[in-house]
Amino acid sequence: MVLASPLLPQGAETMEGAPMSKTSLILDCDPGVDDAIALFLAFAAPNELDLLGVTTVAGNVGASLTARNACMLREIAGREDVPVAAGCERPMVRAPIDAGHFHVQTGLGDLNIFVPRKDVETIHGVDFIIQTVMSRASGTVTIAVTGPMTNLAMAMVKEPRIVGRLAGIAAMGGARSEGGNITASAEYNIFADPHAAQVVVASGAPLVMMGLDVTHQVRASEGRIARIATLDTAVSDASVNLLNFMARTELALGNGGDPPQHDLCPIAYLLAPHLFTLRPCRMEVEIASSLTAGHTAVEFRLGDGPGPHIQWGTLADADGIFDLLTDRLSR
Ligand code: BDR
Ligand code: CA
Repeated sequence: MVLASPLLPQGAETMEGAPMSKTSLILDCDPGVDDAIALFLAFAAPNELDLLGVTTVAGNVGASLTARNACMLREIAGREDVPVAAGCERPMVRAPIDAGHFHVQTGLGDLNIFVPRKDVETIHGVDFIIQTVMSRASGTVTIAVTGPMTNLAMAMVKEPRIVGRLAGIAAMGGARSEGGNITASAEYNIFADPHAAQVVVASGAPLVMMGLDVTHQVRASEGRIARIATLDTAVSDASVNLLNFMARTELALGNGGDPPQHDLCPIAYLLAPHLFTLRPCRMEVEIASSLTAGHTAVEFRLGDGPGPHIQWGTLADADGIFDLLTDRLSR
């Protein structure tokens, strides 16, 4: 089932499915090699995204590193006009778990690390989300989440009025038909803070979930990386470095060489919703059992309970998404 973007007012898309007006966006992330590609796309789309700020959270690596990495990537992209605010240093309840085995201790694979010229804001990431949503007109701020949902859940707990004021949430997280990537049934972002994910899922805010079912369809093949390499800019060079690193890591892990671009999906969705197929669903996040913690129970048979404010990504047009990425990085 193809739906018009549930994060946009009716009629707010062009014939090609692209949003007609700018989306005011907060990008909440844990960079992370694939978060980096998502950030580069968001930084490269100033005509479509009014990027109000980037908030960072402990996830793939610790909180000080994800904040540093966001500042570094911002500088490479030449977007120091965008504020970065560092958020939560640990999950709401469970013990912290990073993904340094994939992203390496720096969080950015083989990328050269430098000290960014501009540091994070003094405001905490959770307060940045609250202040931004509360100070703007209701229904105008969208948040994209590409890491554990700790910052957004904490913001919802601290200031519940943001729930009704959000235009919507586009998140990378969860798995249904694909199974998990950190346990048999859990995807990393949800596993890393299942309690936060449950707060967000149960909040009632419009939510588009890009889980592994859809992100595993969006893979950076050699040909797709080669096209980005032809752009020959600082951002394309860094992107190629990150994508090649992911390809080598996936190969070494025995997953095949074309790395899935998980975190790219929610940003690509906000720019070009027609590239994705969504299904309305009900969803709960498992938090009780040690073996199923972080599992997303996704039910397409709509009955009582939370939903259908939740849309689950089922299909992606990977060629279209890489065309979009390559085009925006070329601008
Ligand atoms: C998610 O987990 C993280 O390691 C990635 O950055 C992505 O957000 C994929 O499961
Ligand atoms: Ca991430």
